[in-house]
Amino acid sequence: MAQAKKLFIKTYGCQMNVYDSERMAEALGASGYVGTDRAEDADMILLNTCHIREKAAEKVYSELGRFKPLKAANPDLKIGVAGCVAQAEGEEIMRRAPLVDLVVGPQTYHRLPAMVAAVRAGERAVDTDFPEEDKFAHLPKGPRASRGPTAFLTVQEGCDKFCSFCVVPYTRGAEVSRPAARILAEARELVDRGVREITLLGQNVNAYHGEGPAGEWSLAQLIDALAGIAGLERIRFTTSHPNDMREDLIAAFASQPKLMPYLHLPVQSGSDRILKRMNRKHTAESYVAIIDRLREARPDLALSGDFIVGFPGETEADFEDTMALVRRVGYGQAYSFKYSARPGTPAAEREDTVPEDVASERLARLQALLTEQQRAAQEAMVGRTVAVLFEKPGRMPGQMVGKSDHLHAVHVTDPRATPGTIADVRITASAPNSLAGELV
Ligand code: SAH
Ligand code: SF4
Ligand code: F3S
Repeated sequence: MAQAKKLFIKTYGCQMNVYDSERMAEALGASGYVGTDRAEDADMILLNTCHIREKAAEKVYSELGRFKPLKAANPDLKIGVAGCVAQAEGEEIMRRAPLVDLVVGPQTYHRLPAMVAAVRAGERAVDTDFPEEDKFAHLPKGPRASRGPTAFLTVQEGCDKFCSFCVVPYTRGAEVSRPAARILAEARELVDRGVREITLLGQNVNAYHGEGPAGEWSLAQLIDALAGIAGLERIRFTTSHPNDMREDLIAAFASQPKLMPYLHLPVQSGSDRILKRMNRKHTAESYVAIIDRLREARPDLALSGDFIVGFPGETEADFEDTMALVRRVGYGQAYSFKYSARPGTPAAEREDTVPEDVASERLARLQALLTEQQRAAQEAMVGRTVAVLFEKPGRMPGQMVGKSDHLHAVHVTDPRATPGTIADVRITASAPNSLAGELV
């Protein structure tokens, strides 16, 4: 038998790219590729890229440069670029980086096996279509190995919101929900392979409106159906948009015990003037009102958010509104970014840009506040007992790491803590990015 060909995939960007990379590895598994974590050993290198900010996109070209000597040493090595940079800059990548053999956008991964065959025959291939068919339904399935206790599952993809700063509607295309039956089948299969916790993914996951057995299902209906799968213990979803936070989903936080008390709900800014320029179509007040309703439904809900500072036209007063909103909401975790002008987006045309040093200084102030809130939220767990799903060994001998309901990383050193089990842990200490505790 010929030796198996080796595939190295490097993933950037959001969790959907992590999910897509797994699907691509599976699809190419059916064509005889096995994964490797060493680029030097690979016959095929795939970069799954992110276009969200300038830095993310530029990484691709520097990474490709590092593969030059590998290609010189092994002329049979094939190099592909997938993901959102591929979608946005496909032809340019082919021009700027002659060592690239293949460019594939996020909506054509099901065509990857045929493209790889063409590339192996010496062609260069580009596919950045937005085809009508569901790529997931047409992706070939490779060997199904057992896997860790947590998994991502894409249920919705694309975005029709067109926030003025954002490339996602252009790189991922229009919003599409997968049929509920396919999602349920995939979830059952994951559970059969050892998965205990599933995080449902979508760019606007709470806008989910997929085909159900009788009419369309909302995300709350999908979650209830998933909760019926024996062996699936925990459900999460990300990322949500405030305007799609329906009543039935808020109620699910009270009624569905398998839905974890953690929600990532980006707001971007606390200033209505800036929110309007961002085309967010909500106000700071309407966002806070949603948070209040969520906390009524689930008082211990932990919140996470995304923030952009230095959006064009942002004044000190606008920024102070963001700080005030953060103080009012109180986040367990958060992601904050300096605004990055993205070619082709409406905000990139604005001339009232905020100077780099002003934006950096605001980002530092915001991050100091968010870090302080995160530290306080973690410290508040000390002395409490929390349910932890153990995932893998920690860095210290005998140590296991898992996640609490609130998505805190928790370490214990106890032989009874094994991957895939959920146990009550009494928290004894808080470190900057994790908690330590003992099984009760
Ligand atoms: N679909 C999700 C996530 C979009 S990308 C949502 O709607 O919230 C993740 C985060 O990146 C965004 O929430 C935003 O905070 C940030 N982001 C997007 N475009 C950006 C840009 N041009 N500059 C800086 N940050 C950006
Ligand atoms: Fe981007 Fe806005 Fe869509 Fe989120 S909702 S993906 S920030 S356009
Ligand atoms: Fe990046 Fe595309 Fe995700 S731009 S954040 S990889 S949807």
